[in-house]
Amino acid sequence: MSTENIRVCPVERAGSLDSRIRRWLQNPRKILGSYIKEGMDVLEVGCGPGFFTLDIAWMVGKNGRVVAVDLQEGMLQKVREKIKASGTELNIILHKSDEDKIGVSGNFDFVFLFYMVHEVADKEAFFRELVSLLKDNGQIYIVELPLHVSKKTFEEAIKIASNAGFTVAKRPKRFPDKAVILKKT
Ligand SMILES: C[S@@+](CC[C@H](N)C(=O)[O-])C[C@H]1O[C@@H](n2cnc3c(N)ncnc32)[C@H](O)[C@@H]1O
Repeated sequence: MSTENIRVCPVERAGSLDSRIRRWLQNPRKILGSYIKEGMDVLEVGCGPGFFTLDIAWMVGKNGRVVAVDLQEGMLQKVREKIKASGTELNIILHKSDEDKIGVSGNFDFVFLFYMVHEVADKEAFFRELVSLLKDNGQIYIVELPLHVSKKTFEEAIKIASNAGFTVAKRPKRFPDKAVILKKT
């Protein structure tokens, strides 16, 4: 397995992940609108400063739930501040994971991994844990950076996921990003 670019995005870069220009280029509701429905249980791993998190919570509504996970407490704090600033009741649970364990429980409809899989050191353990967290008819949406993550590294991650119990359901076109939807085998 290639180990290129295994480096966690620091909290100091949170601002660039949550900018207006990014919202214009990567509108969360456009990206997720055909996958996330009202009432769903969604797991977002590597939520960072929560660029997608609040939109996901609005999309699932009061009958759904978002569990937003990150390795770094500083990132989760940014999400906490955003939730507070929104002044809205949102069904978001924040969880600090360990490097080698997500550490949540649940049976999720949808798992969202945006620009984060390349930062996971032990991808085998990561995908094995995700198999146990996803509903049988659930889906995982992985999006990776265009230049940062080579095609080879992206395909290697999909292979690891396949060995853990996933299969490719779809390859959404997200130029210049790389994207895949996985389902349980
Ligand atoms: C490049 S940022 C992307 C954040 C967010 N998904 C976005 O698109 O704005 C990657 C995030 O994944 C987190 N991360 C990296 N490895 C992780 C792991 N094994 N478990 C949970 N979070 C992780 C990092 O702390 C960082 O906040």
